[in-house]
Amino acid sequence: MRILVTGAAGFIGSHFVRHILAHHTDDEVLNLDALTYAGNLANLADLPEEQARRYRFVKGDVTDDALVAQLVDQAEAVVHFAAQTHVDRSIDDPQAFMRTNLWGAQTLLEAARRAWSGRQDRRLVLVSTDEVYGALELDDPRRFDEDWPLAPRSPYSASKAAADHLALAYYHTYGLPVMITRSCNNYGPNQFPEKLIPLMILNALAGRELPLYGDGRHVRDWIHVSDNCRAHDLVLRGGAPGRVYNVGADSQRSNLEVVRLVLALVAERAGRPPQEMMGLIKHVNDRPGHDRRYALDTSRLVQELGFAPRVNFKDGLADTIGWYVDNPEWCRAVTSGAYREYYQKMYDGR
Ligand code: DAU
Repeated sequence: MRILVTGAAGFIGSHFVRHILAHHTDDEVLNLDALTYAGNLANLADLPEEQARRYRFVKGDVTDDALVAQLVDQAEAVVHFAAQTHVDRSIDDPQAFMRTNLWGAQTLLEAARRAWSGRQDRRLVLVSTDEVYGALELDDPRRFDEDWPLAPRSPYSASKAAADHLALAYYHTYGLPVMITRSCNNYGPNQFPEKLIPLMILNALAGRELPLYGDGRHVRDWIHVSDNCRAHDLVLRGGAPGRVYNVGADSQRSNLEVVRLVLALVAERAGRPPQEMMGLIKHVNDRPGHDRRYALDTSRLVQELGFAPRVNFKDGLADTIGWYVDNPEWCRAVTSGAYREYYQKMYDGR
């Protein structure tokens, strides 16, 4: 299969490309990425030679009609990861999110409609998020299933929900063979350190404060990026057009619990008593509109596509910390210049 993967220089996209090239030896991958702050070609720099021959990179924006049309025309399948993904940035600059997340999806869907003109052997996976469902209260035992009404609450999740609706509209109106994934929080190697886990790991390793928003009791559902990539591969090959699949690993934890575990694992590596490091946790002003809790019902993915997560949270977190320790060059490169400015703007005096 010739697969166009958008945003494949980013965290999840680059893991997905590695997964495809390693597990499907006849597949070819084309990576369309604009190389914004979170896109990093270093994430795919060390592909084995045989895999590198089946991989091609094109620098470009997913809202560029002519370029996207040309690339979709060459592809038998599209997996659309390219997005502005960080909630805090969406609060700061919502327009950029609508442009990339909604208009990018529109550009891609329209290109696929024109290029594939009704062919049902083509596949488009639109990567959405569990944040489109809105938030649950801490004492609400329910989980979001795929029929849960969409009720996004941040500019980020609203832009993703708009794209999600649009993709289903293309399925219903034009019969475009599109599948939608709504996955929970990912973690693992190569994640840009604006997100909770890599930010806390780098701060803990450097002995800096760990800025926990509000009371830290907010709950997120976590999946290791390798499990998420296997799930996306299953949806790509076996998903039904017009169908939505939640992607998760049934691993809900409060942010405080996650941060404490990061500190305990870092302390263990350093041979220090964990209690010594817990003082690094600093409660800071909360994120505006901060969603309290997400929890996903993934039974559709499990029952219809046979998904079973393989990485348990504590092991995955310990390995992830190991990766950041073993890759100081990668960390130095992504935390220079613009990142420092971002960090100061977000956290100084918070
Ligand atoms: O649920 C899936 C979503 O997960 C994805 O669609 C998003 O692209 C991704 O960014 C992520 O959104 P979150 O807002 O949940 O991720 P983030 O890592 O920013 O925050 C996770 C939790 O940690 C959230 O409750 C806010 C909190 N937090 C985050 C940061 C960066 C802190 O307490 N301190 C921090 O410094």
